[in-house]
Order: sequence, then C-alpha cells, then structure tokens
Amino acid sequence: MSNNGSKKRKRVLSGVQPSGNLTIGNYLGALKQWAREQHNFESFFCVVDLHAITVPFDPDELRTKTREVAALYMASGIDPEISTIFVQSHLPAHSELSWLLNCLTPLGWLNRMTQFKDKAAKQQAESVSSGLLNYPVLMAADILLYQADAVPVGDDQRQHLELTRDVAQRFNHMFGDTFTVPEAMIPPSGARIKALDEPTAKMSKSQVDSEYHAAYLLDPPNRIKKKIMRAVTDSGRDIEFSTDPERAGVNNLLEIYQAFTEKSSEEVLADFADARGYGDLKKRVVEVVNEGLTPIQQRYNDLTSEAGYVDEILAKGAERAAEVANATLELVRERMGFLKAHV
Ligand code: TRP
Repeated sequence: MSNNGSKKRKRVLSGVQPSGNLTIGNYLGALKQWAREQHNFESFFCVVDLHAITVPFDPDELRTKTREVAALYMASGIDPEISTIFVQSHLPAHSELSWLLNCLTPLGWLNRMTQFKDKAAKQQAESVSSGLLNYPVLMAADILLYQADAVPVGDDQRQHLELTRDVAQRFNHMFGDTFTVPEAMIPPSGARIKALDEPTAKMSKSQVDSEYHAAYLLDPPNRIKKKIMRAVTDSGRDIEFSTDPERAGVNNLLEIYQAFTEKSSEEVLADFADARGYGDLKKRVVEVVNEGLTPIQQRYNDLTSEAGYVDEILAKGAERAAEVANATLELVRERMGFLKAHV
C-alpha cells in the first residue's frame, strides 16, 4: 500500500438506475464494494432517474424506485456522512451538460454502442426514443461534472466509459483542458453473479418475465429460499468451482456463498466436503444469503419508516453535489463561449 500522505483522495462516481429491483448481484458487485471503498475515495453515488426514462416507464414507479434505490445504498452501508448520495434529476447541471456534450458527440459514436443496439432491438422501432441513443452522453455528463478519477461499473458499461473518455478528450482538445479523463474500475469476472435460472447470463434487475431469475435485496427469506432451491444446476454431483459453462449453476452458487461469507475458495470447498449433493449446497447458500440480507432489510425498514428521512439525506446530497457540478458547468459554459447571465 502506498502512503498517500497529504495527496488528495481520488474521486469516484457511480450510479444505479431506479428501475426493476436491486438484486444480490447489484449488492455484491457494486453497493457492497462502494461501501467498503468509500473511505479510500471521495465518493459520489447517484440515483440516475434521468436514465430510467430512456425506456418506457411509469411515473409512480419511478418515484417509488428512486427512493428505494437511495435507501438501499444506505442500507448496504454507504454512509451519507462519508459519501455524497443524490438524485441525478435534482441537479439541472446533468441535463444541461448532457445537451452541450451531445452537440460535440458524433452520431456515429452513439450508433456503435452495443447496449443501444440491444435495447433498441427489444422494442418496437416506433417506441425507441432518441433519449436511448443519447443515454451514454448523459452518463458522460454525470461522470465529467464531478471530475471523477475512477468509475466503478460492471463490465457491460465498459463501452460507455470508453465513450466518456473520448468525449472528455475531444472537449479538452477543442476548448482547453477542462475535464479529468476517468478510468473504469471493473470488478474481476469472479465477482459477477449470474442468473439463477440461466447461469451463463448476468443476473439482471429488470428481467421481469421469470420469477426465478434473480434474488432481490428486499425478498423475504422464504422467497430467497424458493428461488435458490430452484436454481439451475447440472446432472452431476461434484461441488467445485468451475469455468465449464455446463457447470455454471453450481459455480454461481459457490460464488454467491463465497461473496456473502468472504471465505477463501479452500474454506468454501471445505464447508461442502460433507454435503450430500446439490440440495445440501443450496440449503447452505439460502442460509448465508438470508443472513447477509437480514441486516440490510432491517436497516432499509428503519430508514424508510421515518417519513421524510431519505428525502432529507437526498436534499443534503444534492446540495453537496451541486457545489462540485455547478463549478464544472460554469467553466464549461465559459470555455464554450456562452455569455454569463449576470455580470
Ligand atoms: N449506465 C449505468 C448502468 O446502467 C448507470 C449510470 C448512469 C452510471 N450514469 C452513470 C454508472 C455514471 C456510473 C457512472 O449501470
């Protein structure tokens, strides 16, 4: 470990969309890591509600989920006294910078985005919004407003991070050094939790067609049990870590067990030395998942039982975020040649 001494802490920014239900994959791959790392970085965690409207959405659900995601950040250990937790739409700077950057982003860069192509292919051509195409530019605005050094995201966001870097460099080249060019911080592949019903695919929070796809952070213990006991495995009986796609189900259950218990691979396998098959494996996975989720759910219930508490945290977060974001935006406006409104 290097001694940082008086050097300023590096800044990170990340966000989750308030759509679908946060899963144990979101917790293990993102929130838990963010909470652990918040002491080492100056951290900004955003609920990206403006991104959630790039696909068809329901206003009541947007409202509910925005609060829910913010409360789950805190329930997962992100401390609003240490990190800045805020809602994207509370800061007009995000929308404004997004427009400015859109005008500097070649259309070809956006047309190449694989996530846009995938999401667009899932909708009727008529209902694909131009917001969906411009989504990565809004994400670039989120990151660049805070001059973030690093952005912890899943592997599926790698291309969006590359685009953010390209946009930042283009701006810096055109108008002078303005933005920090951020690095992606992508967790190792082992840290990626797979779907329970399709263990070669990522566990997704918005896969609503299958009840047994994902374990949600707010699922009660009996639902967690039902989902895990139904998880897809294979016809063998060996309990071991494996990269063989045929054995991805058992591997995923072991990864989940390991992530919740924080044990070494050897310790995990030793725990299952006496197991009599996948039934035993699943039962123990259910236990550690529920042990891990109980305190999170308890904190969630406490945070949300006090009316207005979460909103109060978000108001303070927006105030802190605005100090940083508005300073960047002011510089951008000046560099681009916009007149000041007040002299
Ligand atoms: N696109 C990200 C995702 O779906 C969410 C996001 C929006 C984000 N803005 C961001 C992540 C800024 C990191 C930084 O996961």
